[in-house]
Amino acid sequence: MGFFDETGKYPIPVDGRVEALAKVTGKGKYAAEYEVENVCYAVLVTSEIPSGKIKSLQLEQAKQAEGVIDIISHLKKPEVPGFADEAKIKESKFGLPVFHTDTIYFKGQPIALVIANTFEEAVYAASLVKAEYEKAPFEVDFNKARINTELKPAGKERGSLETWKNLPFSVEQEYNIAEEVHNPMEMHATIAQWDGNKLKLYDKNQGVNSVQKTISGLFNLPTDNIQVFSEFVGGGFGSGLKVWPHVLAAVLGAKQVNRPVKLMLTRPQMFHSVGYRPASWQKIKLGADSTGKIQGIHHQAKNGCAIYDPFSDGITRVTRLIYQFDNLKTENAVVPLNLSAPTWMRGPGDCTGDFAVESAIDELSYQLKMDPVELRYKNLALDKNPDTGLPWSTNYLKEAIQKGAEMIGWNQRKAVPNSQTEGDWKIGYGMAVGMWNAGRNKASAGIIMDKEGNIILQTAMTDIGTGTGTGMLNILHDATGISKSKIKIQLGNSDLPPAGSQGGSTGMSSISGAVVAVIDVLKLKLSEYVTKLDSAYKNAIAKDIILSDTGVSLKTAGQRFVPYQKIWEANNLTLIEVEASSGPGDERSKYAFCSSAAHFCKVKVNSKTGKIVVEKMVAVVDGGKVINPKPATNQITGAAVGGIGMALMEKQLIDERLGSLVGNDLAGYHFPVNADAPIIEVAFINKPDPNINPSGAKGLGEVGIIGVAPAIANAVFNATGKRFRDLPITPEKFF
Ligand code: MOS
Repeated sequence: MGFFDETGKYPIPVDGRVEALAKVTGKGKYAAEYEVENVCYAVLVTSEIPSGKIKSLQLEQAKQAEGVIDIISHLKKPEVPGFADEAKIKESKFGLPVFHTDTIYFKGQPIALVIANTFEEAVYAASLVKAEYEKAPFEVDFNKARINTELKPAGKERGSLETWKNLPFSVEQEYNIAEEVHNPMEMHATIAQWDGNKLKLYDKNQGVNSVQKTISGLFNLPTDNIQVFSEFVGGGFGSGLKVWPHVLAAVLGAKQVNRPVKLMLTRPQMFHSVGYRPASWQKIKLGADSTGKIQGIHHQAKNGCAIYDPFSDGITRVTRLIYQFDNLKTENAVVPLNLSAPTWMRGPGDCTGDFAVESAIDELSYQLKMDPVELRYKNLALDKNPDTGLPWSTNYLKEAIQKGAEMIGWNQRKAVPNSQTEGDWKIGYGMAVGMWNAGRNKASAGIIMDKEGNIILQTAMTDIGTGTGTGMLNILHDATGISKSKIKIQLGNSDLPPAGSQGGSTGMSSISGAVVAVIDVLKLKLSEYVTKLDSAYKNAIAKDIILSDTGVSLKTAGQRFVPYQKIWEANNLTLIEVEASSGPGDERSKYAFCSSAAHFCKVKVNSKTGKIVVEKMVAVVDGGKVINPKPATNQITGAAVGGIGMALMEKQLIDERLGSLVGNDLAGYHFPVNADAPIIEVAFINKPDPNINPSGAKGLGEVGIIGVAPAIANAVFNATGKRFRDLPITPEKFF
């Protein structure tokens, strides 16, 4: 994504991603790949016990090892104004006060940072740091600890639970989902470089301005003193939405040794350093009348969290969204454990809650002897958001279900479970739906233009692999007709026009408005300059100004084409630079916004081994207008694979006797590989939402996974007659 690519050797592929060539040729730099002069290396030493105090820390031997520059620990607390006292720590909302406490909250907690001239020297010296601990009792068993935590109301109660307790059809069940870990391919890494009281960070994250803000708060520094780069990101899934202790460690290290410091997490450290989807327990009670109309849902949920960070995943939120019914109660609780802090992970909360609700509704359909698709049609809240009462701006979930049913061949499904076999294999079909509150944040974009009509379009927003840059390119091209080859994209740098993080499916919804806004500002700027040459342009409005590769025209005055060259010459310009921002207005007081998806699948289950093969998956998504067909399809396909992991494989094993994570590497943590990924067919409703933002895109990152796991579990029931309410559904559970 170079600024005026010197050679022109890396042309932008017109139909692919703007960053594709940079990525596949190694030209694009991930956080750990920046070459920074005089850099040294930092390695974390982590706690060997899950709970207690550090009694002593022996650093001498490590300090004397070859190449070691310094070691940071709580013994000589590095200066962090945000950790000055208890009150400040709370206010900083950072969670773990790393190197400022002798308290151990979890196994793997950073207790020292060894900085050396080479990476190998740092690794060796870190192995020489010895700690003695005063051990304390601990708890890492979510299922045990959850028993004694109390549920609290989560959101408004509707109607009364009393009214529907004697209904003819009801489901009352519990659901458990194991802890899952993001594990993007690119490991988190930070290079920190101080220059006086200015700080540069090359850091893997999902929002450079958010990192800038957090660091600014911790160090009492103006945000302008902090520059954060996250230009290429190899996957995030939510793990990059926060500033984690290793980032702060690199910043402190660089300050201490007065040299740039690079810190990259190891793959095992990735399992406890950058969040995870917490283990959860849920209970659903759902009742319907004899026509299948849902009368009420009582949804209770608990999720694990760290002792120092009471993260609530928002599991019952989705229950308030999809269906219309009169009586609802939702309750949540968090369960503190001696584990590191969880965080948002792809479809956070909703993905978990949706598994329980969509499984219960499937169960209800068999009681009613009603097709699960029909049952959903009967209950969808298609007019308004049932929680707020606001009309949906657009909601095409019903169309998505219809299309998905066609694509999977739903008519081949047998209504009676365990009734379709092929040799040793039992065949089944399942479906589930998912929904997400479609959000939008304020964002800014900038344009730099030269006299040849070359454009650089910029924003601070990162692109975690979702196609942000490509989307911006497409919007600019579609709105102006300017050739894609004349447009370059720059992003992921906090010096560029500010924007929110890429998370919660808000990326495209937020940045698209800014791109549209900056195009208008550019047009007005150009017409101002053209007025010198042609007074017809005086006071022209943006929509009448037509851009092209070579110049501007005016729609209302018989075109009157003026080449860019002339404009630049007449005004003695080198570059035109404009910036604009755009954010939500009052539309959110008039409308509710949702993205949604219908997931269908066909599975086969081996009756001898219990092996489940997902043969085909279909996802039909209403994410508003699709700006980038190819990356959007990739997003949904990837999310479906993530959902297969959630349903059938992913489980962070934890040794309850030692408090350790087990199998914390990519061999031990089971997740889908190519051989587990079936044919995944993706379709989009692709109708613009007229109210959400100028582009009509609602966002689709989360709904790609919300509903996948219950669709699979429901298909497994259809195939075998066995209902699984605990994830993952591993083969031994059949026997
Ligand atoms: Mo995501 S959990 O919105 O990165």
